[in-house]
Formats: sequence, structure tokens, C-alpha cells
Amino acid sequence: MNDIENGPLGLLLTRRSSLVKDMVAPGPDADALEDILTAASRVPDHGKLEPWRFIVCQGEGRKPLGDAIANAIAREDDTKTPEMIDRLREFPVRAPVLVIVVSSPNTESRIPVWEQHLSAGAACQNLLLAATAMGFAAQWLTGAAAYSAGVHEYLGLEAHEQVAGFMFIGTRSDRPLAERPRPDLGSVVSYQ
Ligand SMILES: Cc1cc2nc3c(=O)[nH]c(=O)nc-3n(C[C@H](O)[C@H](O)[C@H](O)COP(=O)(O)O)c2cc1C
Repeated sequence: MNDIENGPLGLLLTRRSSLVKDMVAPGPDADALEDILTAASRVPDHGKLEPWRFIVCQGEGRKPLGDAIANAIAREDDTKTPEMIDRLREFPVRAPVLVIVVSSPNTESRIPVWEQHLSAGAACQNLLLAATAMGFAAQWLTGAAAYSAGVHEYLGLEAHEQVAGFMFIGTRSDRPLAERPRPDLGSVVSYQ
């Protein structure tokens, strides 16, 4: 790598999510998590609305969330098998730290709600980048829990709020992680 690739551009060009199943302890401590959340909140934000908030779930706090997710989805979705419900119960405890990024748009503002959701997505990505830059493993997931009314109620979300991401942060295990196919720029870029 040349000097540019060793710097911030290198992070952008090589960042790769780590799978939650390959995450082990430790997660970020309080100081590291503060830096990660500071980076997550330093995102473009049309109208300075701060249309997102972060719910940190770690340690003992993860188990009751897992129970709430399992119970809510068992109630709401009768196609889920007991094995699937058990996997959902384990969802929050799979990594040391889980940050739930809540998109919380100001619906009274002249700024379109869509743009406010985009800012929440930027917060998720900044969180991933910060965690990766600090040497942690991180992955952005949603899944059924993100869309469950019962989970929203447990987390105290209001009707206009959405889960933008369950952001898992930990340390990578030794299991190797292959690169995944990346877009062919020719198919996603056009010029006018
Ligand atoms: C909004 C959003 C939700 C996602 N939810 C899931 C998910 O529920 N399950 C999953 O396997 N990957 C999910 N992903 C994909 C992973 O976060 C990640 O992109 C992928 O594992 C590897 O891509 P990367 O190495 O480029 O980050 C989601 C991505 C985004 C942007």
C-alpha cells in the first residue's frame, strides 16, 4: 500500500464488515465507545435536526432485550419455528456491544423525512468506520427485530421512529474472512 492507502482512504477502500458470529470479547470500553458514538453523531444533517439517537445495549442489558425480541416476534409472526425464536433470543448477545441506531425524524420540519433517514444511515456508516479504525469488528444488521412493533415498544420508539440498524461491535475471532464481490463501477456509475 502507498501512503494514501495507509491513511483514511485505505480504511474506506478496505473496510469490511465482520460477521457477528465471528465476534468475541472485548468490545469497546466506555472511552472507546464514546469516540465511536461521537463519530457516529458527526454526520451530515440537513437543518441540524439530529434526527437519530443511539441506544447502547451491553453486558447484562442484552439478555432482557433478547427475551423481548423473541417474545415479540413469537407473538407477531406465527411462521417462526421455536428454533428461529431461540435464535432471535440470542440475537443481542452475539457480540459484546450492540448500539441500536434509531432514526428519529422531526416530522414538523421543512426538511424531508427521507433526508433525515439518510442522515441516520450516515450515522450507522460512521459508526462502522470508527469502530473499524479503532481495530474493532463491526456489523450492521436489521432483520425481523428491526421491524417488530413489540420490539419498538420495548425500546421506547415512538410511531415516527425506525430502527436504522442494530450495530454490533466486538473483536474479530481468528476465523478468516474472505472479501465479498464488490460492485463493478461500470454498472453503477454513469456520466452526463
Ligand atoms: C440497512 C442494512 C441492513 C442490513 N441487515 C443485514 C441483515 O439483517 N443480515 C445480514 O446478513 N446482512 C445485513 N446487512 C449487510 C451487512 O451489514 C454487510 O453489509 C455485509 O455483511 C457485508 O458487507 P461489507 O463487508 O461491505 O460491510 C445490512 C446492511 C444494511 C445497509
